[in-house]
Amino acid sequence: MPLLAPRRLLLALCWIPVTALAEGTLSTEREKELETLLYQDCGSCHGMTLRGGLGPALPESRMNAYSREGLAALILHGVAGTAMPGWQGLLTEEEARWLADHLQNDNPLDE
Ligand code: HEC
Repeated sequence: MPLLAPRRLLLALCWIPVTALAEGTLSTEREKELETLLYQDCGSCHGMTLRGGLGPALPESRMNAYSREGLAALILHGVAGTAMPGWQGLLTEEEARWLADHLQNDNPLDE
């Protein structure tokens, strides 16, 4: 009895490109955690609805002045000389891109 029956092997081979094509690899659970982080942790400075506080408001129009990569880099590295911290100790690049995408396309502050 081979380890993988031929039909199983075929199924496994089909599965690889499908998962590789999927948009991201973050679990729904992690996406929920990131959303909580955005409105609570980032929100502690930018406001729980992103309308601003110690940090500026983060409206969708403003967020789209950045490229997605640029915004993700800003989130990971922070803004030197300001209160905006870098988040690279807590977030992976993919997670920062997810947050950037959320700010650009799924933003509650749609001005
Ligand atoms: C301790 C306060 C603080 C926290 C927490 C914080 N920020 Fe900031 N953030 C700032 C400040 C202050 C600025 C303005 C920096 C400047 O003067 O350029 C800023 C700037 C930004 C900008 C650029 C805004 C613009 O108009 O160009 C983005 C985007 C941003 N923060 C996203 C985030 C995200 C996402 C998080 C959470 C992962 C976060 N920030 C957490 C204080 C904070």
